[in-house]
Amino acid sequence: RLLDDAPKPLAGRTAIVTSGPTHEPIDPVRYIANRSSGRQGHAIAAALARLGADVTLVSGPVTIADPQGVVTVHVERAEEMRDAVISRLPADIAVMVAAVADWRVAASAEQKIKKKPGEAPAPLQLTENPDILKTVGHHEHRPKIVVGFAAETENLEDNGRAKLERKGADLIVANDVSPETGIMGGTRNSVKLITKVGVEQWPDLSKDEVADRLAQLIADRLAGA
Ligand code: CTP
Ligand code: CA
Repeated sequence: RLLDDAPKPLAGRTAIVTSGPTHEPIDPVRYIANRSSGRQGHAIAAALARLGADVTLVSGPVTIADPQGVVTVHVERAEEMRDAVISRLPADIAVMVAAVADWRVAASAEQKIKKKPGEAPAPLQLTENPDILKTVGHHEHRPKIVVGFAAETENLEDNGRAKLERKGADLIVANDVSPETGIMGGTRNSVKLITKVGVEQWPDLSKDEVADRLAQLIADRLAGA
């Protein structure tokens, strides 16, 4: 069966997806970032598009290719990612997968900071970045479905439930990113789905399979199933 013949339950729907890390400059050559390959977010953007959605992917710096069938906007910093996302509201669906850097350097240097041999470096003054998911979850043009991720190394369910509440999300996809799971940077994912009504453990799946399941679940929810 040709892909083009597949059912398109999200036809006519718009979606915004964030993916990858953000890079927060220290100076023109150095930055602060979270670990993120962008694989899960990019797979979700592609899966929503396969179901017929009109998808904008806002991606931080990644080495993987732009997904097919999606408009990809490339950004570097969290503030740029926030602006790119907010400027595309209203939308029906928001899936915030990016590993946004929680802090940026308060005043990044315009010129490369030079080492002074034998001298300790000046401490970095950090300031909090905007919370993009929380902004979207409480926005006057809040999408009908707002999905967040929670990457945790401990207390997965409690932290996930707290994020659901705090950020105004409908759904949190929580994954254990302890180094021993090998999930960070890999192609597989083992997630718990957290909603207002409870927690569901999904089996160990590829990131593409997680994306397809999540896209289908979003389509079912929008259809009122
Ligand atoms: N997120 C975001 N903007 C931020 C921080 C996080 O949009 N500045 C989103 C992520 O894309 C993810 C969710 O919020 O969907 C949870 O991110 P996470 O880093 O797990 O949560 P934080 O609220 O940043 O809490 P902490 O890092 O302290 O666990
Ligand atoms: Ca964080």
